[in-house]
Amino acid sequence: MLIDIIAGARPNFMKIAPIIHALQARERDGGRLRYRLVHTGQHYDARMSGDFFEQLGIPTPDVNLEVGSGTQAEQTAAIMTRYEKLLLGQPSVLCLVVGDVTSTMACAIAAQKLHVPVAHVEGGIRSGDWSMPEEINRMVTDAITNWFFTTSQEANENLRRTGVDDERIFFVGNTMIDTLLANMDRLRPPAFAAELGLQPGEYFVTTLHRPANVDAGDGFLHLLAAIGEGTRGLPVVFPVHPRTAKTLRQVAGPVQESDGRARVDAAPDDARESPAVPQAPMTSACPVGAGQPHPAAGTALPANLRLVDPQPYLEFNWLVKHARAVITDSGGITEEATVLQVPCLTLRDTTERPETITLGTNELIGTDPAKLKPALDRLFAGQWKQGCIPPLWDGHTGERIVAALEGLLATRSR
Ligand code: UD1
Repeated sequence: MLIDIIAGARPNFMKIAPIIHALQARERDGGRLRYRLVHTGQHYDARMSGDFFEQLGIPTPDVNLEVGSGTQAEQTAAIMTRYEKLLLGQPSVLCLVVGDVTSTMACAIAAQKLHVPVAHVEGGIRSGDWSMPEEINRMVTDAITNWFFTTSQEANENLRRTGVDDERIFFVGNTMIDTLLANMDRLRPPAFAAELGLQPGEYFVTTLHRPANVDAGDGFLHLLAAIGEGTRGLPVVFPVHPRTAKTLRQVAGPVQESDGRARVDAAPDDARESPAVPQAPMTSACPVGAGQPHPAAGTALPANLRLVDPQPYLEFNWLVKHARAVITDSGGITEEATVLQVPCLTLRDTTERPETITLGTNELIGTDPAKLKPALDRLFAGQWKQGCIPPLWDGHTGERIVAALEGLLATRSR
């Protein structure tokens, strides 16, 4: 019995790894499920995709739909068209999607329209913020999902409220945390950690890529200024997402580089999309930007910001594990910070992962830069909460998913 496992963008890869490993283990023990790994190609850089496959022991995809960049609609259309063609030529008995990226929604639609049932890992979570593409992806996917594998009681409740029967909800825990726990002993510092003299608890990690935070240049620079000010001169390691790099190039232009390592290069597709963007490498892992004039806002990048390329999984989570705190607009990182017991300040107004706040180390700060300093003052005063691990985030979610799938698909003949 062939099931499709869909992955398209960076946050998908750590979610599929434990499911694939559990499927491989069951196959060795005589299980009947076989999988086809379909990469949509939504993320395609080695640093956004290939590095994760290698580090997490994910096999090479059986199929790559190679959709690449585009608007939301263009990506959705391309993924649907290409995945439909695959299913028509070589049908599978189930389409398993994870998370909330464009690939998740597009493949779920294509499959369900061909009467291939859909399973959604991380189903049911909601931020209530329709301005985020991920929220639309969650709602559309869940509206046409047969079986939900959920990470929290809140997700279960959200699904029940929309009329989903309990028989279709499997509260299994968090596959992203399976991956973190499985790799805890393999986490390793990036090469620049020594160069920058990073000491445990004496630096911050920040990631920002949400359109609301990074697409408007001035607002983004004000946010960076607030991060620089509130962190009291401690190094702030900032792995820059390609979308964020584009904005930085536009508002700050080429920034002095010192050694050429760990720099943020201009992505080739960025060049196609934005010919006006400076193409010079922007920055390095060394102190950058102090005194750099900002043509749009007349401000400068904070002196303690250390801009680096997107980091591979093992290096990124090493950085988080040893940081004083994380400042982010990501969703997944709030879960990892919770399990690593590292304070997490989320620069968003909403979250689809409320358990990281009620149980974990996360707090919603909002997107107003003025809110950041008081929160960081509390952190420096030692007043951050401790947090605990949410139920079933225990490293065995992948196995529970595969066991449930074997039961659900037991009566299928092919
Ligand atoms: C996507 C997900 C988001 C996730 C994020 C993590 C959706 C709607 N959003 O956003 O939930 O948190 O990934 O990374 O699916 N680019 C590259 N190299 C790549 C991939 C992208 O340069 O390997 C560029 C694209 O050309 C584009 C920009 O980055 O200019 C944004 O990529 P896109 O796939 O549109 O979405 P993300 O912002 O990465």
